Amino acid sequence: MQSDCDGVAQWANSPINEADLLARHGWIASQVEALRENIISNPHYFDIKIAGWWVWGQALWLGDGWCSAKISKRQMPSISTNKGIFKNESSRDIVDYLNRLSNRIKKVRVCCGDWQRVLSPAVIGTSKDIGIFLDPPYKGTEKVYGEVSVGVSQEVFEWAIERSSFPNLKIAVCGLNGDYDFPKDWIEIPWKSSGGFRSSNNLSRLKERIWFSPNCGDIQLSLFA
Ligand SMILES: C[S@@+](CC[C@H](N)C(=O)[O-])C[C@H]1O[C@@H](n2cnc3c(N)ncnc32)[C@H](O)[C@@H]1O
Repeated sequence: MQSDCDGVAQWANSPINEADLLARHGWIASQVEALRENIISNPHYFDIKIAGWWVWGQALWLGDGWCSAKISKRQMPSISTNKGIFKNESSRDIVDYLNRLSNRIKKVRVCCGDWQRVLSPAVIGTSKDIGIFLDPPYKGTEKVYGEVSVGVSQEVFEWAIERSSFPNLKIAVCGLNGDYDFPKDWIEIPWKSSGGFRSSNNLSRLKERIWFSPNCGDIQLSLFA
């Protein structure tokens, strides 16, 4: 999007067809390693077709595993939900939507690696007021993101608890009902995700929770309606 946002939008602006979804899933999955290597080793590298099709499929794929070689099972595109580029607001003009998104994230700093690298004392000790939104793999589903993710949710929970009372931190942790036992002064907010179609997701979507640390103060519940 940074190098050719209109080009990405053109590839993303594609009809919805199950055969294309499967073909693109397999085709991108087969080159993930090369893609990763190119992205981190060649500063000139970008691929608008892969980016556009990834955005397109991300909006259509149900559940986890879009473009993951681990998921070879055939599946239908989402036919009852409109998310990502097919959300009403964005689908009217995908070029305009992706350009707005591209502008929106211009000042975002993206890091790739373990979450604790961006939360070292050097980073969080310097500012007066820091919001931290932690959305680790949900317990029991960590392997979806690879072996390195096993145990991350517990690490995140313990990290958050230890810093509950840091006056400059407002911390939010996502998970499912029952995953964590936060102290009573944390605020637990239930919300409903748009969900997927696999049965486990359907059950999970009713159990979504965000826990807010005491420093977050009053939570605007209307944000979760
Ligand atoms: C529940 S998903 C978060 C989804 C995200 N909030 C979004 O809207 O796309 C959990 C994410 O944690 C990432 N993850 C897993 N282990 C991690 C680690 N050790 N450090 C940083 N991120 C990790 C996974 O790759 C996955 O993208």
